[in-house]
Amino acid sequence: VSGDAGPGDVRLGVVGAGAHSTGALLPSLRAMEACIVAICDRDGELASQRARAFGIPASYSDHQAMLAAEALDGVIVIGPPAMHEAVGLDVIAAGLPLFVEKPPAATLAGALRLEQAAARSGTPVMVGFMKRYAKVYRRALQISRSAEFGTPRLLRLNISHWRVAELREHMLLNGVHAFDLARHFMGEVVAGTVALRPVAGSHVAALLLEHAGGGFSQVTVSASEPRYQESAEIEGDCALIRTRGLSELRYLRSAPDKRQAAEPDDETSAGIWEPQSSLPYLEHQSLYIQGYIPELRAFADAIASGRAPVPGITEGVRAMELAEAVMAAPAGLSALQLPNHTDDRILR
Ligand SMILES: NC(=O)c1ccc[n+]([C@@H]2O[C@H](COP(=O)([O-])OP(=O)(O)OC[C@H]3O[C@@H](n4cnc5c(N)ncnc54)[C@H](O)[C@@H]3O)[C@@H](O)[C@H]2O)c1
Repeated sequence: VSGDAGPGDVRLGVVGAGAHSTGALLPSLRAMEACIVAICDRDGELASQRARAFGIPASYSDHQAMLAAEALDGVIVIGPPAMHEAVGLDVIAAGLPLFVEKPPAATLAGALRLEQAAARSGTPVMVGFMKRYAKVYRRALQISRSAEFGTPRLLRLNISHWRVAELREHMLLNGVHAFDLARHFMGEVVAGTVALRPVAGSHVAALLLEHAGGGFSQVTVSASEPRYQESAEIEGDCALIRTRGLSELRYLRSAPDKRQAAEPDDETSAGIWEPQSSLPYLEHQSLYIQGYIPELRAFADAIASGRAPVPGITEGVRAMELAEAVMAAPAGLSALQLPNHTDDRILR
């Protein structure tokens, strides 16, 4: 892309035309008027159907053929976790900026291979932790970093859902979102305990984490609930942020004298954010509120500006470390076995 290019000039290729690609990423790319020049799926018929439906000029059944034939500025990869690594490595080898859906690989070792390949070649890699870009969490982060809120001391985060037979599948598809958010709000994880219990072919899991800044997180990632559950509370200096799903944020300010309770009938002690849904503006649409449109825009912006996209592959590796530690834990309560970080690795 030339020096004065904007995100709409970035020529993108997409690999993977399955359910999430069709339901979330392709509609988000269309809504942000991205320039998608080619789409690829191993199922060539599916790729050409999606090309027709989304007005994409070219379709392929082999990503190497797409990389060789098209003049691309970046590639978006969405498929099974093992495919993220395999295709991602080929995209990096082609020297193209990579957006890889979460989880970045099927294993921690795979995520580390992507991180090493990206570091060796200097290729930017972004991981699709779209919750960081969800409106409710962007607002929560802004408040949690304000002087009025004070230092975030404790995060209570629940991202749970219905039964999932495989602990690995649950951690890779769902747990990684919670682990990334905990790090996003509270910083690097330095120690933790995990409570894990198999229940009726599924499992419940809860973590207590200590973060480098001194804060703690309680994170529950169970697969034993009737529907998707998502909520967070962040405690600051006698102030509290409370979110429910992606559609409600309450900010409860401290009383002027922090030894006193803030009065519930004092309107200045509470603030509420909730999305508007009456108008058809892009910013009011669910793919925007959930973070998909802003994350993909951030990827295109990063390519156009030459800045590193956030969250990068190292954030993906960190979330995978926590996921693997939960998978390796025995039933019951145990210390979380995190990889042996040297000090410089923690600070990196
Ligand atoms: N961030 C989110 O909110 C979110 C939500 C759902 C799914 N996801 C992620 O999206 C990914 C895809 O999930 P899905 O439900 O769409 O799966 P899916 O099975 O519906 O689609 C995967 C597609 O990848 C294609 N594919 C596999 N290997 C390929 C290859 N080598 N080259 C080209 N195409 C290949 C398949 O043919 C299929 O069409 C998962 O890894 C999941 O973690 C993310």
